[in-house]
Amino acid sequence: MNILITGGAGYIGSHTCVALLERGYDVIVADNFVNSDPVVLQRIREITGRDFHSYEIDVTDAEAVERLFQAYKIDGVIHFAGLKAVGESVQKPLEYYRNNLLSTIVLADNCIRYGVGKFVFSSSATVYGDQEVPLAESMPLRGTTNPYGETKAMSERILTDTARAHPKLAVSLLRYFNPVGAHESGLIGESPRGIPNNLMPYITQVAKGKLAKLYVYGDDYPTVDGTGVRDYIHVVDLAEGHVAALERLEEGVHVYNLGTGQGTSVLQLVKTFEQVNGIKIPYEIVGRRPGDVAESYADVSKAWRELGWSAKRGIDEMCRDAWRYEVNHSDE
Ligand code: NAD
Ligand code: UFG
Repeated sequence: MNILITGGAGYIGSHTCVALLERGYDVIVADNFVNSDPVVLQRIREITGRDFHSYEIDVTDAEAVERLFQAYKIDGVIHFAGLKAVGESVQKPLEYYRNNLLSTIVLADNCIRYGVGKFVFSSSATVYGDQEVPLAESMPLRGTTNPYGETKAMSERILTDTARAHPKLAVSLLRYFNPVGAHESGLIGESPRGIPNNLMPYITQVAKGKLAKLYVYGDDYPTVDGTGVRDYIHVVDLAEGHVAALERLEEGVHVYNLGTGQGTSVLQLVKTFEQVNGIKIPYEIVGRRPGDVAESYADVSKAWRELGWSAKRGIDEMCRDAWRYEVNHSDE
């Protein structure tokens, strides 16, 4: 089976390439490296001992994408490629709508014209907006607070309408909660450019001494200790969720939360990181970050029921593996 992986050099895409290669699939990676480094592809080969084809392609480029569909008999597409920085999307909405929507349209169009039957899409828990937890797939979407989130909700809609009109295309919409951690080899992981926006990479950079201290955005939320609660999921569990989604996808449109179902507060994550890695993380409580919700965690029962998948790795492993990758690769 040939699986086209867009954004395969990125954080989640690279771990999913590993999971698919280890399971015997052939992968074809298309990435323009706007937020990743081609060296990651070598590391995937090193981890798995397998080779695969990779192309430097912008997946909004319809002609370049069509050449791929002509060259290979593609059995499925997993579409990770996208811009993902929430704050930047507010500053550059057109860049986000253009990149994230056009890529989805171009890929779906080629799937229909070349008879590809499976499309797995990287969506986000952000599409739920601010609602009661646990968040379940049956809940109506209430609108998001930023253009990035809107591109995810709109891509879900585009793919749903397309699959309804073309029943030979089956679609799986995967709503990720908060992916963290890294492959246990320490060879691939998350390498944000500049100062990280997300909590775990910020913590690892404080641990490394690259940043002086963590700013905790608010301690007055109605949560266990006042700080924001999220459903952190180990990126290797997330990658395995993609394999399960691909293998069970037969017809129709299916939506799945990929999370652990467990909420962890900012301070609980900091404490676990300190304990597991034996490093103190200095922090300061500051005001809330605009657009943040108090709590976000998943109802994960549907993914278990229908995909036979659930996350296996806990917060300890997430903190240990994130730190191992930072130690190995932070100077690149
Ligand atoms: P990432 O930035 O590490 O990976 C995205 C990859 O896509 C990068 O390698 C980038 O170079 C590539 N890319 C972007 N635009 C492209 C284009 N037009 N053509 C070709 N390649 C392109 O991000 P990630 O964390 O691995 O996220 C993967 C997907 O999952 C994204 O769609 C993201 O929005 C979604 N997602 C991520 C999170 C998260 O917290 N990391 C949460 C929910 C959803
Ligand atoms: N936080 C801090 N200090 C920081 C960074 C984050 O206190 O320096 C807090 C936030 O306020 C929040 C928690 O840590 O309470 C997690 O924040 P992240 O930025 O790591 O994650 P978010 O849940 O805000 O957002 C992430 C992705 C979004 C995605 C969403 C749901 O950035 O793109 O998860 O999947 F939509």
